[in-house]
Amino acid sequence: MKLLSEIKARFKPALEALLENADTAQIDSLLAMVRPTQDDKFGDYQVNCAMALGKKLGTAPRDIAAGLLQQVKLDDLCARTELAGPGFINLTINDNWIKKCLSSAISDDRLGVEQVTEPRTVVIDLSSPNVAKPMHVGHIRSTVIGDALANIHRFIGHKVITDNHLGDWGTQFGMIIYGYKNFVDQAAYEKNPVQELSRLYKYVRVIMDFHAAGRKLPEATELKQKQIEALEKVQAQDHGDNKGKLKQQKKDIQRLKEKIASQEEAIADFRNTVEGCDPELATVALEHSSVEREVLAETAKLHEGDKENRDLWDKFLPFCLQDIQRIYDRLGVKFDFILGESYYQDQLASIVDELTSNGLATESDGAMCVFLKGFEAPMIIRKKDGAFLYPTTDLATIKHRVEEWQADSMLYVVDHRQHDHFEKLFAASRLWGYNEVEMTHVSFGTVMGDDGKPFKTRAGDTVGLEGLLDEAESRALAVAIEQNPNLEESRQHEIGRVVGLGALKYADLSQNRTSDYKFSYDKMLALKGNTATYLQYANARVHGILSKLDTDAASLRNTADDIVFTETVERQLAMQLLRFDETIDEVLVEYKPNLLCNYLFDLAQVFARFFDQCSVRDASSVELQRSRLQLCGLTSRTLTCGLGLLGIESLERI
Ligand code: ARG
Repeated sequence: MKLLSEIKARFKPALEALLENADTAQIDSLLAMVRPTQDDKFGDYQVNCAMALGKKLGTAPRDIAAGLLQQVKLDDLCARTELAGPGFINLTINDNWIKKCLSSAISDDRLGVEQVTEPRTVVIDLSSPNVAKPMHVGHIRSTVIGDALANIHRFIGHKVITDNHLGDWGTQFGMIIYGYKNFVDQAAYEKNPVQELSRLYKYVRVIMDFHAAGRKLPEATELKQKQIEALEKVQAQDHGDNKGKLKQQKKDIQRLKEKIASQEEAIADFRNTVEGCDPELATVALEHSSVEREVLAETAKLHEGDKENRDLWDKFLPFCLQDIQRIYDRLGVKFDFILGESYYQDQLASIVDELTSNGLATESDGAMCVFLKGFEAPMIIRKKDGAFLYPTTDLATIKHRVEEWQADSMLYVVDHRQHDHFEKLFAASRLWGYNEVEMTHVSFGTVMGDDGKPFKTRAGDTVGLEGLLDEAESRALAVAIEQNPNLEESRQHEIGRVVGLGALKYADLSQNRTSDYKFSYDKMLALKGNTATYLQYANARVHGILSKLDTDAASLRNTADDIVFTETVERQLAMQLLRFDETIDEVLVEYKPNLLCNYLFDLAQVFARFFDQCSVRDASSVELQRSRLQLCGLTSRTLTCGLGLLGIESLERI
């Protein structure tokens, strides 16, 4: 039973009566102003729409609020209603109502969270790494955010289809094909193909980077020289005492100095790549001076159906899949489909034909392009040389998801740098006729290192995901051993695994997804603060309390105990428990799992205060003890369920 929706439902008819010709969106935006209060001295919920209505109707907001209070029936739901300030309505929910909701949450498998009445088919495009190269830290975001969104949608009754849209057809295959043809260590390949292919990828990458850096070095040096000249020019300007101009000059100098500094960094990087290259490798690189062109040629041959390359691709792909599957298994993430780019390749020609014949795609400089209003550059769907591109495959994917899966909504959990690609893709798809399906780019920021720059290893490489998981687990294991030196080793390892992975996932999920975040093992594994570790320990503590009193959350569900409030904090805990339901709704408004994290953190904190102030063992009566046990049981179930929705495991004992 949702408290928030109950309040909204009661206010809705009154608002509709006030604004006679309002459409649903207008009413909904007013109802969105019904919110939980920030501070419980204002009650539990606040209705804040009188101010907006006042403006619209030209009436004093306080009078509107008073009118609403008179009209809306609240006496059974609220113990107190209050008109405050310029026109706020503060509502304090009736204790009996809270208790009734709590009892129904306790007896319900789903903790009282209602399922949607109109389930939608939601396709979630997540993880989607380019295979044949190792997964890196950037892939964790799409995988865990996408998985959490899938779990949450499923939990409230939507039909979810997760699809890992692998990049399995790109240049990286040209690289391993080239690597295999030129550098394979056959014995190593026979023994461990996954490892050898990964070595080949890295080897060819280094050679390509060596040449790219060699090419860019003079360009970058020249650019730096130009920037220095520009700086000298600005510095030489004499503006006398013209304050405005002097200010501008200072700004320009600063800007140019920053540009030069970052150019110097780039030059140092290029120089390091060339000069710091292992001499043996540098010799090989020089022998393979046309590697970049050759890799593209191998890729093109694969795409054109060359038998040798196609056979190699068929041989390599299963090994590449095996390589990433190991990580998914560790993360506990499953997909309904893994339809990579290769799956769509034989449909691309006809899609380009279709778009051409219906006039959406036109030729420009030999390439086929979709020109879109509001975008400077067109979306290219076939290159001059006949090759199809990333957007072409994505168009085919949309067709497939709508026609085969009847998608109502598609979420693309992809890096923010692809913003433009998705804007164009969605616009083109709508013109193509896919305008019923809702398409959203659930974008996310970059994982940063301590230095505030994208997270890299000391050597400047991207951080491999597997190493990250190992490190998180081993650090969590060290904490587990410290906390429980006498525990069996296998249990300690299990704790290390669950706590380490939980910390890693939660560190990502608890950030507002659109911002960049700083990666820190210490922070993510902290026992205090908004971390999975804190929540897992809190949850284990509740289990401990219950088991000391010979019960557990599951058996508590079968006893219909009355809930009693003797201390304010008991009621606060109860209210927080009831807000689980509305939190889930909130998460799905803008696809923000961090709101669920915040909720769970608040819950664990209220629980800690409750436990501090309200003894369970020494409660003054059996009735009070039973009530407190019920609050403990529901807290634990809510933590377990909430963490589970985030893809994080709980432990009964840590
Ligand atoms: N493979 C792409 C990359 O690594 C991401 C794919 C995202 N999904 C999509 N349908 N375009 O950049």
